[in-house]
Amino acid sequence: MTEQRSASGPQHYLPGMSLHWLLPIYDPFSRLVGAGRVHQQLLDRAEIRPGQRVLEIGCGTGNLLRALGRRQPDVDAIGIDPDQAALRLARRKAARAKLAIRYEVGFAGDLSLPDASVDRVLSAFMLHHLDADERTRALREIRRVLRPDGQLHIVDIDGAAPGHGNGRLHSDPRVAASRPERVLAALTEAGLTGGAENGRSRGRLGRLSSFVFYRAGRAGRDPVAPPA
Ligand SMILES: C[S@@+](CC[C@H](N)C(=O)[O-])C[C@H]1O[C@@H](n2cnc3c(N)ncnc32)[C@H](O)[C@@H]1O
Repeated sequence: MTEQRSASGPQHYLPGMSLHWLLPIYDPFSRLVGAGRVHQQLLDRAEIRPGQRVLEIGCGTGNLLRALGRRQPDVDAIGIDPDQAALRLARRKAARAKLAIRYEVGFAGDLSLPDASVDRVLSAFMLHHLDADERTRALREIRRVLRPDGQLHIVDIDGAAPGHGNGRLHSDPRVAASRPERVLAALTEAGLTGGAENGRSRGRLGRLSSFVFYRAGRAGRDPVAPPA
């Protein structure tokens, strides 16, 4: 775990390759796994239109938003991540590609965006990096920032798949929480509507790269606050 300051004080997070010093191999590893194809599949599902505001939580080195920028340059794209070193890489790559993407240090559980200001929230390979409390905060924050007709699109590891769900990793609560039925329950608990699985994909590492897509919406009334 690595530490970064959030509004509420120092907060821990799990970096892209789990260990901070492995960041230089994040992009080569992503290519090896075939993450680029999965990013494209996520963007196909998100159906982003010109003029929309798109937020990626846990954007890391910025590969998903760069792929979006190549498809659809006329969007207001914002990526947040607590990992400053990953964001430096993301900014450098966006500048080289002449893409106007905003990358900001931040935690998914504490977004600095106003209520109902985002058309699409994207999340790729990051949900299983969050512990239970941060995941709950993050999904509530996503609901808060989405416009009433906004959508959340996620791709993450399949915590139930052999490879992810067996052996040593099985005991990791973050992997156990990535079983599709638990992700869907978490979406509903956060007050997101229409949470559903939206297809599956495989990377190049076979059983070690089984991914599930999810979608959810923001429509509906605010959940009734629990009695004090
Ligand atoms: C496996 S990487 C995925 C990066 C990118 N989305 C991609 O598709 O290549 C997971 C990312 O989640 C970030 N992360 C971990 N905890 C986070 C949190 N609480 N809020 C936002 N991002 C977080 C990590 O720093 C890391 O960059």
